[in-house]
Amino acid sequence: MNIILMGPPGAGKGTQAELIKAIYPIPHISTGDMFRDAVSNGTELGKEAQKYMEAGKLVPDKVTIGIVEERLAQSDCAKGFLLDGFPRTTVQADALNQALLKLNKKVEVALNIAAPNEILIERLSGRVSCKECKKVYNLSYNPPAKTGVCDICAGEIIQRSDDRGETVAKRLEVYNEQTAPLLDYYSKKSVLHNLNGNRDSRVVFEDVVKILESL
Ligand code: AP5
Repeated sequence: MNIILMGPPGAGKGTQAELIKAIYPIPHISTGDMFRDAVSNGTELGKEAQKYMEAGKLVPDKVTIGIVEERLAQSDCAKGFLLDGFPRTTVQADALNQALLKLNKKVEVALNIAAPNEILIERLSGRVSCKECKKVYNLSYNPPAKTGVCDICAGEIIQRSDDRGETVAKRLEVYNEQTAPLLDYYSKKSVLHNLNGNRDSRVVFEDVVKILESL
């Protein structure tokens, strides 16, 4: 199954990806996670990506497309993939089409999760995660049992630097300008499914499963 997860920052793409990969054994490819790993490992890619991420802007297409093409060509993607946060521009979408064509594949389903702006802002400002195992929490909806400590591995709980104030506003603006037009792009390819993300994540997931089972 070749799936892309779409939606604005905070819509619940990462949350649904965790639920999907627990049932469907396909690799979860999150460009945001790849960039954050590169930043924490201090690589050249990380140094390049960090300045854009901290400003709430997109990392340049050339850089982003290269890492995704490389990842999709790996053997664990043979039976499908779950792309989260890619593509985000029409240039990226065209490049994805070309890369998949070479691999005799195509995007089979684009799941678009939507929620009102005020909900997105509230979720992002409350999101924290474990520095070690990366489990995501929300201080309003599902906080860790002990403040600052991960329930799973006792790791330190941290906040993403781009989940603060003005950066969140910029990310939402960039989404509306550069990524939202892709909904039309995938609608024209008849693979787009819209989901109301302003519900309990388990309820959203029930709809996701219905869509995936209908393929
Ligand atoms: P990325 O990491 O992809 O961030 P994003 O798209 O902004 O998405 P988020 O991770 O913020 O939100 P999400 O939808 O996954 O929500 P989540 O499930 O965590 O990208 C970060 C940066 O990297 C970009 O700004 C850019 O600089 C760069 N980048 C990445 N990809 C790129 C690309 N292709 N091109 C160029 N640059 C790129 O949920 C959020 C919170 O809400 C959590 O606390 C969660 O617990 C809670 N929550 C989730 N669902 C629900 C629900 N149903 N009800 C209540 N709470 C919920």
